[in-house]
Amino acid sequence: MASSLPIGLFDSGVGGLTVAAALRMRLPRESVVYFGDTARCPYGDRSRAEVIQFSREICRVLMDLGVKMLVVACNTATASALPTLAAACPVPLVGVIEPGATAAVRATRGGKIGVIGTSVTIGSRAYERAVHVIRPDVEVVGLACPAFVPLVEQGRIRGPEVDAIVHEALAPLRHIGLDTLILGCTHYPYLSDAIQSAVGPDVTLISSAEETARWVARVLADRDLEAPRDAVPMDQFLTTGDPLSFRRAVDRALGSRASEVRTVALPSGVATVG
Ligand code: DGL
Repeated sequence: MASSLPIGLFDSGVGGLTVAAALRMRLPRESVVYFGDTARCPYGDRSRAEVIQFSREICRVLMDLGVKMLVVACNTATASALPTLAAACPVPLVGVIEPGATAAVRATRGGKIGVIGTSVTIGSRAYERAVHVIRPDVEVVGLACPAFVPLVEQGRIRGPEVDAIVHEALAPLRHIGLDTLILGCTHYPYLSDAIQSAVGPDVTLISSAEETARWVARVLADRDLEAPRDAVPMDQFLTTGDPLSFRRAVDRALGSRASEVRTVALPSGVATVG
């Protein structure tokens, strides 16, 4: 039965675990299969064509494993590949940009929203478009922060050195009248403390994770795909990188619910799971 299948999620690395954690909070009966393409992370400095190719490969792996819906838990892949993936996807597909933009429009008081993300995401102006579909009068200011993803992948998320890097990177966003800042990369919620202190307490930080989980819940309900009442969730985490450090990141983000961490190889686009 399709409703018993897990939800598939992917990201370039550990960032999308923030979305997996929000899904677990909102939908505790659902199982997830998460794919972190750690070996090819970061995606944010790659070409759009590469991000599309990687995203298609990963979706194929997840579809072959059997999932009832796909969540692109990566802003860079959402900005680059969502329409391409949607055109060939046999299950419902959700990205993180529309949910994040929706939450930001709801939160803004003064109508000036900042968005930080990878170079690909900011260059695509996908957030600006998504915000303007909902409210054309809102001003959106984008800033690429290429230093942040490597910090998170290395597990460096707090301390004076991290604070200094974040503070310097966000200098262009200070004193320009923002009241809301979208964390337009799923890695960035790990740096929330440093980001909040860099932009000041009056700026509301928006992580798309919770809003995306809400969208997923709605899609599952609308399509009659919610996990059965007696479902016992079992999660799987696949990585193209080192399984031990990935296991540590999973435990940190999600606690210790029953789960399995495996390595996946993607030699020249052909996936083998084992
Ligand atoms: N977590 C990702 C995002 O939301 C990807 C970051 C990267 O690999 O550069 O954009």
